[in-house]
Amino acid sequence: MAQKEIQIKEVLSDEIVKKVKFKVKKFDPEKDDKPYYAEYDVPVWRGMTVLDGLLYVKEDLDGTVNFRYSCRMGICGSCGMFINGKPRMACMTQILELGTDVIEIAPLPNLDNIRDLVPDSTPFFEKHRKVKPYLIRQDVKEQENPIGEYYQTPEEHEYYSQFSFCIKCSLCYAACPTAASDPEYLGPQALAQAYRYSVDTRDEGFEERVMVVDDPHGCWRCHYAGACSEVCPKGVDPAKAIQLLKGLILKYRLGLKKKRKGAGVIPAHPRPGVKKAPKRTVVQED
Ligand code: FES
Repeated sequence: MAQKEIQIKEVLSDEIVKKVKFKVKKFDPEKDDKPYYAEYDVPVWRGMTVLDGLLYVKEDLDGTVNFRYSCRMGICGSCGMFINGKPRMACMTQILELGTDVIEIAPLPNLDNIRDLVPDSTPFFEKHRKVKPYLIRQDVKEQENPIGEYYQTPEEHEYYSQFSFCIKCSLCYAACPTAASDPEYLGPQALAQAYRYSVDTRDEGFEERVMVVDDPHGCWRCHYAGACSEVCPKGVDPAKAIQLLKGLILKYRLGLKKKRKGAGVIPAHPRPGVKKAPKRTVVQED
């Protein structure tokens, strides 16, 4: 049988296809002076991800290895790691697709390290919060006591749809050369979210957000390296969002951006053809 056929047959079977070496960066601040790499031999079968490999290491070889994960399906954003020199989601990275026999795994750069592969994401989420990533309405009363949904057409939804896929995994932040050199830089994730909410037709908070992003450590620090968009596991393209945000700010500063009134509220009474929602099965207590 030709070599290629043998390879394909091996890959299609449920058997172990090969063994790879996991080189995992370890660091326990209570015991170690500096980080070091520990090596583990991991059997690989078809469909196995780097996260599966790490779980194998933890369960069968070394229970002290620390890493974050939750959903195992690219949704929660918690398994971001520096795998073979690139920020990737461990649960979305197929070992066989890496095409190497040695897999080096380290915590995400541009964030402090808590232990082993666990980064300290606090500054990342603080920056995210800073840009007010939620709908802001001038009528606070109406926002706090909503009486219905806001109007939005499918075309208006398209303005920001792509940028709303962010899962806050911080891969873009870890890949960003500007975040590496300026710890105060807001970073691609926060800036992309600032744009996402600013072009949402239901939002009235651009003036509040612009105070944060139009700053020496805000969107003007972006040099458009594009590394953020390259590593984003959800195709959000933060680099594009930041350039669009710059345009929005310029228009605003030149007085060319019209102050927008947020979309109105759809009357709460049932619309023709729309069924009434069923009664709640669980009543919330105050
Ligand atoms: Fe949730 Fe990987 S474990 S994204």
